[in-house]
Amino acid sequence: MKKFFASLLAVAMLAGCSSGSASGGEKPSGGEAAPSGGETSSDVTTYDVGVAIYQFNDNFMTLYRNEIEAYFKTLETDSVKYNVTIVDGKNDMAEQTNQVNTFITQGMDVIILNLVQTSSADALIQKVVDAEIPLVLINREPLAYDKDGNTIDEAYEGILNNAAVCYVGADARQSGTFQGEIVAELPDHGDINGDGKISYVMIEGDPENIDAQYRTEFSIKALTDAGYEVDCLTDQVGNWDQTNGQTIAANALSQYGEDVEVIFCNNDAMALGAAAAITAAGRTVGEDIYLLGVDALDECVEMVNNGTMTGTVLNDAVGQSHTAVDVAVKALNGEAIDNYYWVDYVKVTK
Ligand code: BGC
Repeated sequence: MKKFFASLLAVAMLAGCSSGSASGGEKPSGGEAAPSGGETSSDVTTYDVGVAIYQFNDNFMTLYRNEIEAYFKTLETDSVKYNVTIVDGKNDMAEQTNQVNTFITQGMDVIILNLVQTSSADALIQKVVDAEIPLVLINREPLAYDKDGNTIDEAYEGILNNAAVCYVGADARQSGTFQGEIVAELPDHGDINGDGKISYVMIEGDPENIDAQYRTEFSIKALTDAGYEVDCLTDQVGNWDQTNGQTIAANALSQYGEDVEVIFCNNDAMALGAAAAITAAGRTVGEDIYLLGVDALDECVEMVNNGTMTGTVLNDAVGQSHTAVDVAVKALNGEAIDNYYWVDYVKVTK
């Protein structure tokens, strides 16, 4: 049902969009009204694409946005071009709201949105839907909750109720589970001092993000589900940031010393910071401490290979950005889109 309406809506949108001539081989001829907001010559259709990123100063989202831009380029042909504008929300919701308003005024043909705050999802979705612009949400999933406050999968009404709105992401439960499994699979299962429990430090991303919540929960759940005892020495918020990761790890190492057996970081940026703190404290990964991240940034994969990180989990920026772009192009072409698209995580160990 949704697909059917999505299709109708997208076709209707195309009628009013700068690049409507792209579908079905029809090209505007001579006196026909040119669709608003874009450049259409008789030979070339240019789609205007607005991409709003929560913050440029984020290693993972930098890979993601660069790949969005690069992949759109590869899809260009002699007759179809994509004019991609990418803006930096600077981790400021008011700034991002202005940017989305500007995209609407500029008559973007599709918008790809990495929200600063998922709590603002409804307001922004409504603006974009009212402007009849297809919307692809990425990376930060707006969530639906049941009456007990538990999350419900694939149930966000702003997505379900709007045919031209979707979310592209990865299920962060998987990444957390993989982190825990990597520790469980170690010869000593993370219990370096043999006291029967895994004593760990947790360094969390932005707690508003479900990626941070799920990674924190499921990394430990994988261990307890496998029958291991755990002891949380400290659990601190590092907001995805390398410097915060370093400070939190340094403080934990000075406070808990040898007791720290595993440092779980919700992302690789914070793990890079923790790695520096581990070295500064005279500790050695793989010998007297373990270090886990998520994202599989190039430098962290290298560290896993040379043993200075225990493991990470590939957060597939290429897979996610290509899916987001493919879905955006589908919507531009008047094809139906689904509500949710998922890309798998992959365990990275030596
Ligand atoms: C990534 C983090 C990134 C965050 C931004 C997460 O999925 O793992 O590295 O900072 O997304 O929202």
